[in-house]
Amino acid sequence: MKTLKLFIITLTILIGEFKPGNCDLPCRARDVGIEGRSIVCVCDANYCDTITKETPAKGTFVAYTSSNDGKRFEKSYGVVNGIGAAQYELSNESTQDDDSIESSLCIKNNVILRVMTSSKKQTIEGFGGSVTDAAGINWRKLSASAQEQLMNTYFGPEGLEYNMIRVPIAGADFSTHPYTYNELPWNDAALTNYSLSREDFDYKIPMIEMAKAMATDEVKITATAWSSPIWMKTNEAITGFGQIKPEFYQSYADYHMRFLEEYEKFNIKIWAITTTNEPINGVVPTVNFNSLGWFPRQLGRWVANNLGPTVRNSRFNETLILAVDDQRYIIPIWLRGMEKEDPKSIEYIDGIAIHYYGNFMPATVLTRIQKRYPGKILLSTEACEGPMPWDKYKVEVWSWDRASKYTRSILEDLNNFVVGWIDWNLCLDENGGPNWAHNYVDAPVLVYGERDEFIKQPMYYALGHFSKFIPRGSQVVEVSRMSTTTVPNIAVVTPEGNIVLVLHNTNTYETNVRVRISALRYIDVVLEPESIKTVEINPNS
Ligand SMILES: *[C@@H]1O[C@H](CO)[C@@H](O)[C@H](O)[C@H]1NC(C)=O
Ligand SMILES: *[C@@H]1O[C@H](CO)[C@@H](O)[C@H](O)[C@H]1NC(C)=O
Ligand SMILES: *[C@@H]1O[C@H](CO)[C@@H](O)[C@H](O)[C@H]1NC(C)=O
Repeated sequence: MKTLKLFIITLTILIGEFKPGNCDLPCRARDVGIEGRSIVCVCDANYCDTITKETPAKGTFVAYTSSNDGKRFEKSYGVVNGIGAAQYELSNESTQDDDSIESSLCIKNNVILRVMTSSKKQTIEGFGGSVTDAAGINWRKLSASAQEQLMNTYFGPEGLEYNMIRVPIAGADFSTHPYTYNELPWNDAALTNYSLSREDFDYKIPMIEMAKAMATDEVKITATAWSSPIWMKTNEAITGFGQIKPEFYQSYADYHMRFLEEYEKFNIKIWAITTTNEPINGVVPTVNFNSLGWFPRQLGRWVANNLGPTVRNSRFNETLILAVDDQRYIIPIWLRGMEKEDPKSIEYIDGIAIHYYGNFMPATVLTRIQKRYPGKILLSTEACEGPMPWDKYKVEVWSWDRASKYTRSILEDLNNFVVGWIDWNLCLDENGGPNWAHNYVDAPVLVYGERDEFIKQPMYYALGHFSKFIPRGSQVVEVSRMSTTTVPNIAVVTPEGNIVLVLHNTNTYETNVRVRISALRYIDVVLEPESIKTVEINPNS
């Protein structure tokens, strides 16, 4: 009888989610009716859907849902339910009977999670995308007002509030031609002819300037070189098996410093540099684009003797050095090699940069790296869908599956100590280019210059479910599962003290989730089939 009494009391204070209207501009959806595909949202000079974050009042939550069936940041609201002291006196229950609450409610497909707010893990730096030449070229195809819409929808207060950018130092494959700075004169060890390229002035710098102007927080920029000038390399070519000639180790460190100086002239501060993009590509050459190889021990030698001291003894001494910048499965080997060569190389680095591709090795490897190198941050610096030879589509417009893959990967990374996640090209054309090496891939935003419009794919919203609602300084907290089934999830506590949860329903059926935020307080939410839900809870009562 006690249980029944409690059941009735619980029911009376249980208020489900309800859905008032909101003043955001809705997604202007386009559906080409390809079976199994979702929708895209179309933006142009005059229109782009917006999302404003609502602050939940004490004891309430705001939820945002995107789904395969076409919802995009749809808002809903609810309250934190609690078994208060009064009810407990009445029912004379004790907390040990708490689990009977769940069973008495007979939730179907129920998942019960407990957010352990006092069990804090890493602090979040942020989320963002990359300002490549290809992104800039596509962006520049748009009219001035459509260009603003595009940057606003990524960085602005009514957009995803991105606060991170990655920018290539000189060219990458997402350029119209392969190039580096200071290509001539040959063997110019002192870098007397270092100058930025047309692409910096026309595309990258203006794009970064607009991002900074629109952003709601400091935009932290990570810069990466794909290749040195070819005269520094053993194979004297832009790609293939080639490493830095030892006599140019210092020049290649200086090559990075010169970039920091040149961008500083435009008031662009570089927050971090990585130790070269995907060093394995110049050691096991399986790709045909800009690369520079580093064997693990070589990389250790260069960081310990050249890059590390050069950065630390310069006025850019606070620039972070992020090592490896490659797929997660090679990172342990490279770090061990560096350490073995010279432990100072590990002292000089501030963190480790990780890429998204071919992740057959589970993300728990990242937790092991964190444990072995405590004090180093883990940052995901590159991700895109469609790059693999076996990918059926380079660009798969309207794909929810790709949004789902992004979501799964971000959740796995954040649950394994990653502090931030930077997407690859901010935008591309409908073929996934331009790319001089024909290495076309997908992007969250595709630009149709001739129509002066751009479309936002489901991947854009997947990223937004994190970037918009997990501000810099949030701390990831432990979530424990109290049911036999679960859904992929992450929970953070924001600097204001709210709890933000991202829940991913990969099931094709509805799933009910009860989230306990303390022994006695919880919320109930319903996850629609194939959906992502972000919930911001104000836990104060
Ligand atoms: C409530 O529980 C306490 C001990 O847990 C017991 O002493 C008390 O008699 C109970 N009161 C009622 C009304 O059941
Ligand atoms: C300096 O670089 C430019 C290309 O940026 C090149 O045209 C010029 O010849 C170089 N100068 C020398 C002295 O090599
Ligand atoms: C960088 O240099 C400045 C001025 O010389 C110094 O105050 C600061 O502590 C240095 N920072 C680091 C991280 O070495």
